[in-house]
Amino acid sequence: MRKKVTVVGSGNVGATAAHWIAAAELADVTLIDIIEGVPEGKGLDLLEAMPIIKKDSYVVGTENYADTANSDIVVITAGVPRKPGMSRDDLLNINHKIMKDVVGKVVQYSPDCILIIVSNPLDAMAQAAYKLSGFSRNRVIGMAGVLDSARFRAFVAQELKVSVENVTAFVLGGHGDTMVPLPRYSTVAGIPLPELMDKATIDRLVQRTRDGGAEIVKYLKTGSAYYAPSAAVTEMVEAILKDKKKILPCAAYLEGEYGINGLFVGVPCKLGSRGIEDVIQIRLTPEEQAALDKSAAAVKELVAVIGV
Ligand code: APR
Repeated sequence: MRKKVTVVGSGNVGATAAHWIAAAELADVTLIDIIEGVPEGKGLDLLEAMPIIKKDSYVVGTENYADTANSDIVVITAGVPRKPGMSRDDLLNINHKIMKDVVGKVVQYSPDCILIIVSNPLDAMAQAAYKLSGFSRNRVIGMAGVLDSARFRAFVAQELKVSVENVTAFVLGGHGDTMVPLPRYSTVAGIPLPELMDKATIDRLVQRTRDGGAEIVKYLKTGSAYYAPSAAVTEMVEAILKDKKKILPCAAYLEGEYGINGLFVGVPCKLGSRGIEDVIQIRLTPEEQAALDKSAAAVKELVAVIGV
């Protein structure tokens, strides 16, 4: 049977995710938004592109949740993006309100779907969606780590003048400022990064990755990044729909893993048809554990504000 993915929010991230997903022929895509006409227009435009790129993905836009029924995956990008000078945390209350509007309707029509959350502040919004949905924890996944590690991989590849395909990166923790990259588990063609770069260079690239979202907001001025975020969503969608058992860094609801309980934090997850099928645990150094704890504390502060 054909797979169905709904993307809630047909703005920059949502529409571009629909584009990547349809172009990869992963699923039929339904775009939904509150702005009348926009999801219909973008959906139709994408549908009309399919004969040119020779893909049989059906794309449609709507404002009616009944049209999203029986989706395999629902990607939630609804929300307000950052403007220059804003942190992701500044979006907390407004995007939580949007999450309250969206999640119930999504769940009503697609009670068996897997949710991928993209709206920021990511970890807190994933936690809100988890609580609002009542889903088991394997079916609510936050997109952050794939994006953060892609940014790091791009910078490493650029620095060493090697293919991005050779570079793997390992990141833990919350999205952005409190991200915890683990250079010793980041490799170039299997060679640990510290063998190829001095600490100062690694630190510089890590900092650029932490500020990666803000760097783009500064250029765009009216919004935030969307090509890489939506490509990250697409990699997660592919891993789930093809049951690839792919290990990707995602925000997951932890129940004791890494010593963290009852909180969404970025960790390596095995993604397959059941969503998060496993959380991969590794032994951390005391410094790495402290950085992860700090990251978890930052998420905890945010979820306390919105009471989820
Ligand atoms: N239901 C459905 N769609 C909504 C709702 C809602 N209740 N509220 C807002 N939207 C829609 C907006 O109408 C808009 O089309 O969400 C879309 C958001 O699109 P953009 O403003 O282009 O923002 P985008 O760059 O896509 O970012 C969306 O993802 O990366 C995060 O921080 C980013 O939280 C932000 C989200």
